[in-house]
Amino acid sequence: MKILITGGAGFIGLNFTRYLKEKYPRYHLVVLDKLTYAGHRENISGLDLEFLRGDICHAKTVDKTMRGIDIVVHFAAESHVDRSILGPDAFIQTNVFGTYVLLQHALKHGVKLFHHVSTDEVFGALPLKSKHKFDELTPYAPHSPYSASKAASDHLVRAWHETYGLPVTITNTSDNFGPYQDPEKLIPRFITNLITNRKVPLMGKGENVRDWIYVLDHCRAIDMVIHAALKDSKIVGQTFCVGGNSQRTNLQVTLEILRLMGKDKSWIQPVEHRLGHDARYAVDSSKIQRVLGWKPQYKFEKWLEKTVNWYKDNEWWWRSLKENRPIIDPAVQKKLLVKSR
Ligand SMILES: NC(=O)c1ccc[n+]([C@@H]2O[C@H](COP(=O)([O-])OP(=O)(O)OC[C@H]3O[C@@H](n4cnc5c(N)ncnc54)[C@H](O)[C@@H]3O)[C@@H](O)[C@H]2O)c1
Repeated sequence: MKILITGGAGFIGLNFTRYLKEKYPRYHLVVLDKLTYAGHRENISGLDLEFLRGDICHAKTVDKTMRGIDIVVHFAAESHVDRSILGPDAFIQTNVFGTYVLLQHALKHGVKLFHHVSTDEVFGALPLKSKHKFDELTPYAPHSPYSASKAASDHLVRAWHETYGLPVTITNTSDNFGPYQDPEKLIPRFITNLITNRKVPLMGKGENVRDWIYVLDHCRAIDMVIHAALKDSKIVGQTFCVGGNSQRTNLQVTLEILRLMGKDKSWIQPVEHRLGHDARYAVDSSKIQRVLGWKPQYKFEKWLEKTVNWYKDNEWWWRSLKENRPIIDPAVQKKLLVKSR
């Protein structure tokens, strides 16, 4: 089995590549990654696989890479909401156009399955006080340039299935956490701030709710979807919502990280909300549970502690990423936007 993993040098793609390598050592893995600020070659060095540095928007590169591929698992994307607010261009280019280029070449080369990795953010946001959850029938209502670009890519994937018969599957998953996540994202940012004696910038009162999933639960869900689709044609064309069933306010997550790091509330620095900050995400995973028997196995508090320890033990990995990059907080973001208009 020859599997092309796009974005395999980024956070989830890397965890997925390692997961596959361990579970299916005989699979031939090909990683195509542009190595943007979010991709790191060293993440997958030492693994027995083919690595190609390249852009999914570049038709010739994709054409060459797609030859002989059985399955595409498509992670490559611009993924940070705050960056999408300040610079949407790269999001439209990679997430929309890049997905289109991949679909065209997957079709041309007759791949057996194209699996698209997407997010619950395509559904917009739920009210803070409601008990509702997103599921496969929830209408799309993205709020940020990031989620709008991912929504567009989901629509393209479905269109290539319906119109051209490309065998596809899609997963829409909630917020991931775990090792090798870029220190600009909430959990690693807070952990690495505290390790380096900086306060943690909490938006608003930390009332926004996210549904956290440990990255290996997400990898296992993708594994189950792609293997089920190869065996059973009824799975092809389907979407699965994948959530960690761990809804926590950002304040709860922050307090837990502070506790694990032996710090008190004085380490919280309240900051403004980002523009269009989504109030609440929650995912109903009952379809994937019913159809494929998947459910989350990694408990949030236990694996948050392991994640904290991973960042403590692997400063070599994140230290230079953190020091060499300006962090754009919401107040700075708003000033920059006003200036650019
Ligand atoms: N992080 C989450 O919580 C989450 C949740 C649900 C879905 N997702 C989706 O999962 C996927 C991976 O997310 P992540 O958090 O690992 O992202 P990431 O930003 O950590 O990694 C993205 C990877 O894609 C590569 N890349 C970017 N543009 C490229 C291009 N034009 N050509 C080739 N490679 C390119 C980067 O170099 C990087 O290695 C994304 O599609 C994202 O939308 C993420």
